[in-house]
Amino acid sequence: MSTPSEIPWDDLRAAAVEATTRAYAPYSNFHVGAAGLVDDGRIITGCNVENVSYGLGLCAECGLVSALHATGGGRLVAVVTVSGSGAPVVPCGRCRQLLLEQGGPECLVDGDGTIRTVAELLPGGFDTDRLAEG
Ligand code: THU
Repeated sequence: MSTPSEIPWDDLRAAAVEATTRAYAPYSNFHVGAAGLVDDGRIITGCNVENVSYGLGLCAECGLVSALHATGGGRLVAVVTVSGSGAPVVPCGRCRQLLLEQGGPECLVDGDGTIRTVAELLPGGFDTDRLAEG
């Protein structure tokens, strides 16, 4: 587990802002970029990709999770999400569940200027322990 002071937040924020420039958001015009630090040290990014069938749009964090696996896998240690203006974006509910799967409850998230863990953003999240209980 990393402490917040060990995370290169400025590098993550810069990567997330850059990712917003590749967002495809013609319907909301809300361009989102996400950047993640992986446990092997690499920084990966994702951007939102919308669809004319609005409900099919993909959040930036979805792209981030895809990039995680497409570039070698690993665990997310910290995530930053921003809008096109560089303002922080707090991950939506679905994306909190995605981050729980790929980073675990201790993954750090700077979504709105306050650093929180995924466990704080998604208390009682559905995880593999709960699947086993079934
Ligand atoms: N969006 C994200 O990419 N991540 C979030 O956590 C919140 C919302 C996107 C989805 C949609 O393309 C746009 O922001 C407006 O909701």
